[in-house]
Order: sequence, then C-alpha cells, then structure tokens
Amino acid sequence: MLRQFAAYYKNHWKLFLVDIGCAFLMSSLDLVFPVFIQQLIDQHFPNRDLNMMLRIALILLGLYLLRYFFQYIVHYWGHVVGIRMETDMRSELFTHLQKLSFKFYDNNKVGYLMSRVVNDLNNMSELAHHGPEDIFISSMLLIGAFIILMNMHWQLALITFALIPVMLIFSIKLGEKMYEALKVIREKMAEVNAIVEDSLSGIRVVKSFTNEEYENDKFYEGNHSYRRSREYAMKNMAKFHSGMNLFINLINLITLSAGGYFIYIGSLTTGQMVAFLFYVNMFMDPIKRLVNFNEQFQRGMSGFSRFRELLAVDPEIVDKANAVELKDVDGKIEYKDLTFAYDNQEKVLENINITIEPGKTVAFVGPSGAGKSTLTKLLPRFYEINAGSLSIDGTDIREFKLESLRKNIGIVQQDVFLFNGTVRENIAYGNQNATDEEIIKAAKKANAHQFIINLTNGYDTNIGERGVKLSGGQKQRISIARSFLKNPPILILDEATSSLDNESERIIQESLEKLAEGRTTLVIAHRLSTVINADQIIVLTDDGIVERGRHEQLIKKGGKYAKLYNEEFRTDLAG
Ligand SMILES: Nc1ncnc2c1ncn2[C@@H]1O[C@H](COP(=O)(O)OP(=O)(O)O)[C@@H](O)[C@H]1O
Ligand SMILES: [Mg+2]
Repeated sequence: MLRQFAAYYKNHWKLFLVDIGCAFLMSSLDLVFPVFIQQLIDQHFPNRDLNMMLRIALILLGLYLLRYFFQYIVHYWGHVVGIRMETDMRSELFTHLQKLSFKFYDNNKVGYLMSRVVNDLNNMSELAHHGPEDIFISSMLLIGAFIILMNMHWQLALITFALIPVMLIFSIKLGEKMYEALKVIREKMAEVNAIVEDSLSGIRVVKSFTNEEYENDKFYEGNHSYRRSREYAMKNMAKFHSGMNLFINLINLITLSAGGYFIYIGSLTTGQMVAFLFYVNMFMDPIKRLVNFNEQFQRGMSGFSRFRELLAVDPEIVDKANAVELKDVDGKIEYKDLTFAYDNQEKVLENINITIEPGKTVAFVGPSGAGKSTLTKLLPRFYEINAGSLSIDGTDIREFKLESLRKNIGIVQQDVFLFNGTVRENIAYGNQNATDEEIIKAAKKANAHQFIINLTNGYDTNIGERGVKLSGGQKQRISIARSFLKNPPILILDEATSSLDNESERIIQESLEKLAEGRTTLVIAHRLSTVINADQIIVLTDDGIVERGRHEQLIKKGGKYAKLYNEEFRTDLAG
C-alpha cells in the first residue's frame, strides 16, 4: 500500500525534494538559535562585548530572514506537491468511473462514490506532504536537540529527556481518542444533514399528513446526539491540550530544579540552563506533529485503500483486442438463442430469437417485469449477454468497438435525464460538433422549437438542475431533439410517452414517428394504440416470447395480444 502511495510522488519528486530540503534547513536553524543565546549569556554579556553582541544580533536577523524564506517554501510548495498528487488521483479515479459498466452503477450509490472522489482524496493532499515532512522535522528536532544537549551537559540532558517518551505515549493515546471523537462528530453531522434534507424535501408530504411533530422529534434526536458527540470531543481536546502543557511545564520544572542543582555545584552555566529551557519549550511542536501524523496517516491510508479498491474494479465491458469499427449500418438486428441474467441470478431472458430487418419497426408488449427494457439494453452492450448471440448486420456486437456501436444507437426513454445547463447544451449532447442551425433543425423536428423560443432566453435558457424548470413533455421533446441530432441508424424507444398527459403524448408520438422513419426501431409501448403500425409485434411475458406477428394477424389469432388489446382498448375508451 505504501509503495503504491509512493508511486504518486513520481511526477512531483523535484518539488518534493525541494520541500524536504527546506524543511531540513528550517529545522537546522531552529536548532542553532538557542546556541547563540547561550553564548551571549555565558560570554558576551559578562564580557560587556558590545561588538560581539551587535554581530550576533545581525547574524540572528539574517538567520531569521532565511528561516522565513524556508518556511514559506515548505508551507507553499509542500502543499502544492500534495495538491498536485491529489489532483492526479482524482483525475485517475474520475476517468476510471467513466469506464465502469451499468452493473457497477446498479450496485453502488452515487452519494458514496461522490464522497470517494471528493472527501477521501481531500485527506490525501495533507498526508502526501505533511506525512514525510512532519516525521522528518519532528525527528530531526528531537534528535538534534538531544545531541546538542548531551554535548552541553549529559546528565541534565538525560533527566530532561526522561519524560519525553511518557509525554509522547500520553499524547498519541489521547490524540487517538480526540480524533476518534472528531470522526463521530462527522458521522453525526452527516446524520443531521440527512434528516434535514429528507424532511425538507418531503415538506409537502409532511404537511399534508400533519406530521410536523414527528419530524421535529426525529430532528431533536439527531441534533442532540450531534451535540453530545461535540461535547465529548471538546472534553478530549481539553484533556489533550491542557495535558500537553502540563507535561511541558513539568519538564521545565524538572530541568529548572535539576539544572539549579548543577549550577549550584558549578557544572552548568546560566547560558546553558537558558538553552536547555529553550529546547524544552520547542518540544511541544514536534510532539504535536507526531500525534497529528498518526491520525493523518490512518485517515489518509484508509481513504487511499478505498481509492485503490475503486480503481481495481474491472470495467467489465471493454473492446476486444481486434475490435472493428461499426459503420455504414444497414440495421439488421438478430437475437439468436440469447440468454441473460443480472448478477447470475434468475434468468431474465432465455433462448430469445428475434430477427429485425433493416429500417423496420418492432414493437415489444407484455407485462411489466417481463424483460422488455432488458432486451433493448443488451443491444448497446450496457450489459453483457450470458449465452447465444446478438448481431448487427450479421456481426456479433462484441466484435465492434464499443464507442462505434453506441454511436449508432439512439435511445429515448421514459426517464429523461437533462444536465444542468442551457437548452442548447442539452440538445447538443446528441452531437457535440453540431452547428446552431443543426440544433434548431433537430428541435423543430422534435416539435420543441416553438416552446424553446418562448422561454425567457430561448435556446440559452438555463433549465435548472435536471431540468426542474421544464414540464415532462418539454423535457421529452428535448431528449428527442437530441436523438434527431445524433441521427443514429438504430433507435430504441422505451415507453417514451408513458409518463405524459394525453395532449403531450399526441405531440410526442408524432415526433417519435418522424424520428423512427428510415431507422431500425425497437419500441416498447405501454399503449397498444402506438404499436398497431409496427412491422412486427412481439409479446414478451415471464415465459419468454409467446406470440409474434403483425397486428391484424395477432388479433385474428385471438391469443394473448388480442386479450391485451381489447382490455387496453376498453380502458382507453373509458379514460
Ligand atoms: N439493473 C438491474 N439489476 C437487476 N435486476 C434488474 C435490473 N433491471 C431490471 N431487473 C429485473 O429484470 C426483470 C426485467 O426487467 P425489465 O427489463 O425492466 O422489464 P420490463 O421492461 O419488461 O418491465 C425484472 O424482474 C427486474 O426486476
Ligand atoms: Mg421497462
């Protein structure tokens, strides 16, 4: 795991070396300052050597300025290294997510993936540079101070350092508790957020059931459990910070007492004593850094391992080594003995045989859950079939390059997904290179032009998040315009009109028929009235394909289709 993490330094190793180099120089300077103080007190003050005092003051000024420079570099460029590594990881992950198949997204929540891409990787930049830097600076300060003090007065140095390991253990233990508590706070906060979001987005339901009291109670619980977790964290933080100070003060006291004795017996100078005190008070920083590192490392590494886990997910559906381009499509589609199951469970489709001639329309009807949508989703290879074959113009779809396959298939569904942006951008999603004229032409064919120009900013109107500012029929017309623009030889219409009112349905039905002209079309319709003209009607039930033929044939046959048609016809009349 560490080795994989280290690999991300590769592109930024020069900057990283600069960062560590400056951290080294900065710590060295911190270590020499007390030595100057000691010399001033022991030699130059007693000798009243004004010249030397002035010179040391100037040297110190120079060193302080140097230290300023080094710290600036460490702080700025150190963070930059981390940020750039994080950016690399985020791009890698996002690109990978774009490749993953429908199956992956069926099984993973978007919210979860978002926090992997955003939050987990945020911790990464901190760990990336603070990790090595903190370890380096802290050990250098502690070891350096130890060596210098051992040279000054080894007995006092040993006494002074005796408490440091105890302090380290104490602070790491309490630090863990503190960060554990902070983790709980984050979880509780997420819970509170979820309650608020759930409750407010459902506010109309809450009110119509007059369940405000109930919602208040739910919120009260969440809110107060959040409060308790924060109070608990504060308690641990208070223990940690006051404990750290107590330790430093104790070490000061021990150094002062023991040092006092050594001055009394004449083995220690006043200047050395002051230097000791300076070093002791410097210890707080490296110890805090080590505690911080401990937490950062755990958090960062767990984020990193989740990151690697996601990267390790196999895209599953990819091009074959010698895949060919699908072009100049006639549009003959053949399902041969095709069998398919989601997640190796029950077979949704078994031994399906269908042939669709170029440019013809085939309509699928049957009860919900029979597998009509699934059947069409196999064609663009959103899912991989388990057995049999599925071919376009005589070639199995697995032989084609995925991109070329999907470019040749247009899909209009019941659920329209529009992106946040303008009407124009959303139509152009069908073909990113389309000119304005082409976009308008597509919109006209989709019966969308009229309503679009009546919007406040016409084609440049922002449609809001997922198109909240448009009606269902308007959204569907934009998605149809998209497909006109894409202009694929093969078309899938999956209950494209089922959530619409009668009026919109009529208009949209009209443009769908225009869209289907000259294309091989697979249509799934909830209303049988829309399938009457299909070249072939396929009745799919849980038992597979039970009937097929043209409308008149099937009606004459008086089977399942005829029954469905009569029921539907009656309800249509009644409605
Ligand atoms: N993404 C999926 N993962 C697992 N099972 C699914 C998925 N989509 C649909 N199914 C199941 O496959 C069966 C057929 O669904 P579907 O093709 O949507 O039926 P239809 O379009 O005929 O109503 C149903 O039993 C459904 O529960
Ligand atoms: Mg369906």
